[in-house]
Amino acid sequence: MLYTTLSLSLSLSLSLSLFISPMNNTKMALEGILLGMGNPLLDISAVVDDDFLQKYDIKLNNAILAEDKHIPMYDEMASKYTVEFTAGGATQNSIRVAQWMLQIPGATSYMGCIGKDKFGEEMKKNSMKAGVNVHYYEDEAAPTGTCAVCVVGGERSLIANLSAANCYKSEHLKRPENWALVEKAKYFYIAGFFLTVSPESIMLVAQHAAANNKIFMMNLSAPFICEFFKDVQENALPYMDYVFGNETEARTFAKVHGWETENVEEIALKISQWPKASGAHKRITVITQGADPVVVAEDGKVKLFPVILLPKEKLVDTNGAGDAFVGGFLSQLVQEKPIEDCVRAGCYAANVIIQRSGCTYPEKPDFSWRLLSPIRKFHYIRSE
Ligand SMILES: Nc1ncnc2c1ncn2[C@@H]1O[C@H](COP(=O)(O)OP(=O)(O)OP(=O)(O)O)[C@@H](O)[C@H]1O
Ligand SMILES: *[C@@H]1O[C@H](CO)[C@@H](O)[C@H](O)[C@H]1NC(C)=O
Ligand SMILES: *[C@@H]1O[C@H](CO)[C@@H](O)[C@H](O)[C@H]1NC(C)=O
Ligand SMILES: *[C@@H]1O[C@H](CO)[C@@H](O)[C@H](O)[C@H]1NC(C)=O
Ligand SMILES: *[C@@H]1O[C@H](CO)[C@@H](O)[C@H](O)[C@H]1NC(C)=O
Repeated sequence: MLYTTLSLSLSLSLSLSLFISPMNNTKMALEGILLGMGNPLLDISAVVDDDFLQKYDIKLNNAILAEDKHIPMYDEMASKYTVEFTAGGATQNSIRVAQWMLQIPGATSYMGCIGKDKFGEEMKKNSMKAGVNVHYYEDEAAPTGTCAVCVVGGERSLIANLSAANCYKSEHLKRPENWALVEKAKYFYIAGFFLTVSPESIMLVAQHAAANNKIFMMNLSAPFICEFFKDVQENALPYMDYVFGNETEARTFAKVHGWETENVEEIALKISQWPKASGAHKRITVITQGADPVVVAEDGKVKLFPVILLPKEKLVDTNGAGDAFVGGFLSQLVQEKPIEDCVRAGCYAANVIIQRSGCTYPEKPDFSWRLLSPIRKFHYIRSE
């Protein structure tokens, strides 16, 4: 008995010491591999009602920037409903999910602008605890940005007030200690929302990626980005090796570019065939469609991957599903896994997040390949 306990504790401490042993090669190779840039926002979420939506002219399933008519909304939300505060922002969410999936401290890093206030401090603590190596630019005057998340019947609408997030400057990116993160990373991910803030920073990273055969990725992020930030989006597009988006965003992109089709597969294909700045990598388009299959376009072909179906009663809220999908996807991509594994990890992460409130996750992922083998259906459409 004593012997068994001894050998057990011996093997336990052995495996434990193996576990916490200095970084092995895999871990070392992944340190700082993925860098995100974006708008760090504090999410203020509440379940509201239809009258509230009407009063502030809010449409469900939309993401917009706050206007003057929304100024009193935040106070009204806090006084009338139970509000929850969480660290958010599309890119930051995706990076945090990728970090969670990888479970290797410092594998990911993130830059964006926060204020010198309580919310900013909270955000920093949050991200560091999550293992993300954050290099925030701290604005002297503007408060940390916020995003109202109005939920009705499991659907939500986002109204962002960027405040400090809008003050990010490429000067911060160029500082040696920050540019070092760019030099170290091999994969870059920036959600389209950042196009409204610092296109110069985006182009600096995009050009660095192209010149060094690294992978540059962006997200269409919202219809308003495709419509009103068309020019800056078009400037960055040739540099994008991966383009993410959902079906609504893809259709808006097509409409804005005068493509006479609403067919998501065709649109994904056309985006993947948009001219490239560098020939080192082909472009891959990844479009999600809620519970419908994920569309992946590359090499003039389209593949469809079914998502993990969830019984209705288990769905809590789809807020952050898209961000989580990207995070899961990136966690495998940086390990050079094939695209089907990336999509499966994306679906896994999204599946975890939609069963919880907001973009939150349990302590550790339970990402077992065996449980995750949906029957893959491939469907090809002809390229022109
Ligand atoms: N109803 C659902 N059932 C199962 N999986 C879902 C459902 N909704 C979303 N997902 C998962 O989340 C992924 C992304 O979903 P979706 O296309 O709705 O993104 P989105 O609309 O950008 O999300 P968000 O609400 O974060 O903006 C899907 O590919 C899928 O894996
Ligand atoms: C190295 O670390 C990675 C990531 O934690 C782990 O998956 C892998 O099994 C480890 N390899 C060895 C040889 O210990
Ligand atoms: C955004 O936040 C700033 C700082 O808190 C505030 O002054 C401004 O009125 C807000 N704008 C909107 C449109 O809510
Ligand atoms: C895709 O995202 C947009 C916001 O960018 C949202 O309005 C739309 O409902 C989403 N589409 C689906 C099918 O989830
Ligand atoms: C980003 O891409 C994902 C997956 O393609 C999509 O579901 C999501 O709507 C996009 N959204 C944001 C906010 O970046």
